[in-house]
Amino acid sequence: MSIDTTIVSVTTIEQIGQYAGQKVRLRGWLDTMRSSGKIRFLKLRDGTGRIQGVLTKNDAGEELFERTGHLGQESSLIVEGEVREDARAPGGYELLVSGVEIVHNAEGYPITPKDHGTDFLMDHRHLWIRSQRQHAILRVRAQVMRSISDWLDNHGFLRIDTPILTPSACEGTTTLFETKYFESSAFLSQSGQLYNEATAMAFGKVYAFGPTFRAEKSKTRRHLMEFWMVEPEMAFVDMWENMEIQEQMVSYVVQQCLQHRRRELELLERDLSKLEKIVPPFPRIHYDEAVQILRDKGVEFEWGGDFGGTDETVVSEQFDRPVFVHHFPAAVKAFYMKPDPDRPETVLGADLLAPEGYGEVIGGGQRLDDLALLEQRIAEHQLPTEAYAWYVDLRRYGSVPHSGFGLGVERTVTWVCGIEHVRETIAFPRTLYRLYP
Ligand code: 4AD
Ligand code: MG
Repeated sequence: MSIDTTIVSVTTIEQIGQYAGQKVRLRGWLDTMRSSGKIRFLKLRDGTGRIQGVLTKNDAGEELFERTGHLGQESSLIVEGEVREDARAPGGYELLVSGVEIVHNAEGYPITPKDHGTDFLMDHRHLWIRSQRQHAILRVRAQVMRSISDWLDNHGFLRIDTPILTPSACEGTTTLFETKYFESSAFLSQSGQLYNEATAMAFGKVYAFGPTFRAEKSKTRRHLMEFWMVEPEMAFVDMWENMEIQEQMVSYVVQQCLQHRRRELELLERDLSKLEKIVPPFPRIHYDEAVQILRDKGVEFEWGGDFGGTDETVVSEQFDRPVFVHHFPAAVKAFYMKPDPDRPETVLGADLLAPEGYGEVIGGGQRLDDLALLEQRIAEHQLPTEAYAWYVDLRRYGSVPHSGFGLGVERTVTWVCGIEHVRETIAFPRTLYRLYP
């Protein structure tokens, strides 16, 4: 009986460069296999990367060669072999396969290298996320979220998460998801902002980071029913300082993606020169100016209206960086926005529109800090007073000028990746007609 005394390191494709010339073991899945005579090329993936395994009848032996002949796409394997440096290989390395343990032989994997329609891929989202393109996008997403947290944590913001089950609306009563709450009902949070205003009065600078929900009957490439938002809120900050903070944070996030996710962005064929331009300051234009731009470009637009997707695209295309549009008409904005004392029909808020037609990625502004005016607004919007009593209280006990904003993660990732639709930027998108898988 022979005892195998060689210790073979288990590693990942990402780390494999450390083992050049040595034997390693990889655990993963078979992407594609191509055979040509006495040689097989196994494209393996393990979640950290992809590598080509080369299996020859001569080196691996007849038995192993035969056993691997019928492996289906996405079969799970433990593969052993020697790591060989190869400048022509995509990751710089190849594996000379000497052993294969078949953990599970998969048959009839539905997503093949041929073209599939979007609906088919969406129905198979649980499998589609294994593809290279989806990997790249979801890695950029993770980087965006991480960079946001890093920036805020390093700039004196305290993360405080706000509730998802709420008794009241933040962003209008027409887009609420209602759910049973024992004998009464609750709404899924549209935004953590109102609670953040309370925590900002307790801690100064705070942020919430979590999922938010909107029952929006919008079937556009920018809308999800469930999306993630980061929402910083700051006491003693006005709308102008609020914008400075946003441009700093957004620039940092984009530059971090360029630094740490360049490979993924290249795979997505992103024009990196466009992202390199994302540095402060971002242009700031008044709503009046935005309306003028629209009219100059031949869009029929009446002062007082909200921007639709096309309007945002037309305005943002005039700039090579994100652009702030401030002083929207009060009538199209939420009840909590502070009116401009000099032109009370407009508010001290700003939306940030991403370039290249990606539309609004941030909504934010200065909050109403006056008790009487806030009570008036709540009445005008016909909101139930009892549900907002605690919120109104914040204007009774040490009310201060304060501001905040909400950045939508999926829209930001869509823009950074330069892709067409938000649905690819979250693992399991919830859209108007899709709650599966
Ligand atoms: O402009 P919104 O509605 O602002 C708020 O909710 C504020 N309470 C935030 C705050 O000041 N704390 O939403 C903010 C951002 C939008 O700019 C957009 O990026 C994203 O959230 N967003 C959506 N993303 C995907 N699908 C949807 N249906 C979205 N609705 C808003
Ligand atoms: Mg908005």
